[in-house]
Amino acid sequence: MDELSRRKMLLTGGALGALGALGLASPAGARSAWNWAASGSVAGSGAGTDPQWVWDDEADQLLGAILRRGDVPKVNELLRTWTRNDQPLPAGLPQDLRQFMDKARRLPPWADQKKLDTAALFNKTKGIYVGALYGLGSGLMSTAIPREARAVYYSKGGADMKDRIAKTAKLGYDVGDLDAFQPQGSMIVTAVRTRLVHAAVRNLLPKSPGWTDTSGGQKIPISQADVMVTWHSLATFVMRKLNDWKVPVSRAESDAYLHVWQVTAHMLGVRDEYIPATWEAADAQSRQLLDPVLGRTDEGVKLTEVLLDIVAELDAGVTRPLVSAFSRYTLGDRIGDMIGLSREPFWQPLISTAWPLLVAFREKLIPLPLVPEAAWAMEEAIRKFVLLFLSEGRPIHLEIPDTNRPH
Ligand code: HEM
Repeated sequence: MDELSRRKMLLTGGALGALGALGLASPAGARSAWNWAASGSVAGSGAGTDPQWVWDDEADQLLGAILRRGDVPKVNELLRTWTRNDQPLPAGLPQDLRQFMDKARRLPPWADQKKLDTAALFNKTKGIYVGALYGLGSGLMSTAIPREARAVYYSKGGADMKDRIAKTAKLGYDVGDLDAFQPQGSMIVTAVRTRLVHAAVRNLLPKSPGWTDTSGGQKIPISQADVMVTWHSLATFVMRKLNDWKVPVSRAESDAYLHVWQVTAHMLGVRDEYIPATWEAADAQSRQLLDPVLGRTDEGVKLTEVLLDIVAELDAGVTRPLVSAFSRYTLGDRIGDMIGLSREPFWQPLISTAWPLLVAFREKLIPLPLVPEAAWAMEEAIRKFVLLFLSEGRPIHLEIPDTNRPH
C-alpha cells in the first residue's frame, strides 16, 4: 500500500472513530452531515451550525444556578399559581428567573394571531384525527426515538409514566385549545414551563449513570436537533398522515397548523433558523433529522408497554388489541416492530379497510351505507381514548425536576 492511501485510510478510520465517540456513528444516532438550508427557516437565514451542537444556553445556565441554590421546590410551588398566558408572574420568584421568564413568555414578532385562530378551529373540527394521531401515532413513535426514550426513561418523570403521559398530553391539549395563545389561554405558560423542565433535565441527566451508559456519547441531552426530531414526530407526522388519510385540509388550515407549531418551537427555545418556514422545508428537515434516528431500544420497548398498559386500564384491556392495531396502522410495521407492538391479525385488516371509509364518510365524501358496522366500534374506542388522553391533561401542573429517576 502506498503512503498516500495508507494515510488516507488511517485518516478515515480516525475520523470514523471520532464520530463513534460522539455517538454519530452508532446506528441509533446515525445521520448525514447537517445541510438543511436556513433559507427555508422562519428566520430566512442562519449561520448553518449543526443543531446537534446547540442547546439553550441561557435557560440551561439559569436552571443550573437554580438547582445549585436548591431553589427548585420553592419555584415549583410559586409556579403552580401561574396558569394563564396573561397572568403576571408570581411574586417571590428569584430575580434571575423572573427576568428570563419575562423575556421567554413573549411571542415572536412573526406570530400571526389570525393564523393561530384558524389553527385552533382546525384542531377542533379535525380533533378526532389529530387527537388519535398525537396519542396513538406521535406518542408511541416517541418510544422509537432512542434519545427521547432514554431521556424520558432515566429522568425523574420516567418512574411515573402515567403522570408523565398526563403532562405530555397537556401540551397536546393546550396546542389544540381554542384559546391556546390568546390572553386567557395557557399555551405560553405550558411552553415556557416545558423550556424550564428541559433545561433542568440538561443539567441533571449527565449525572445519571443509566443515561450516560446509553447516551451513545452524547454529553448533554435535548439538543435543538433532538427537539426538532420530536417536533417532526408531532407536527410533520400529523400533517403527513392527514394527507395520507385524504382528510380535506385547506391551504389556510395547513398553513395555520404549521404556524401554531412554529410558534410552539420558538417558545420552547428553538432558534428561528431551525424552524421550518413551509411544509416542504419541514419534510426535508424531517427526512434529515427524524427518519435516520428511529430505532429500537430496551427503554423504548418498556415505555411502549407502560403506555399500552395505561390505555388498557381504561376498559380492562378490551380495546388494547384495537389500540395496538390502530397504532400499527398509523405508524407502519417497521416502527410497530421496533417498539414491540403486537400483531393483530383480526383488527389490522379490518382497520385498514374500515378507517379510510370512516374518514370519507365523516368528511361527507361517501354515503353511510358504505361504512362497515365495525367501523363504529372502532371510532367509539378511539374517541374514548382521545377524550381521556386529552382530558387527563387538564389539572396537571408541570414540575421542574431536581433529581433523576431513582435507581
Ligand atoms: C418534559 C414536551 C422534546 C425529554 C416535557 C414536558 C413536556 C414536553 C410538555 C413536561 C412534562 C413532564 O414534566 O413530564 C416536549 C415537546 C418537545 C419535547 C413539545 C418537542 C417539540 C423533548 C426531547 C427530549 C425530551 C427532544 C429528549 C431527547 C423530556 C424529558 C422531560 C420532558 C426528559 C422531563 C421529564 C421529567 O419530569 O423527568 N417535554 N418535549 N423532550 N421532556 Fe420534552
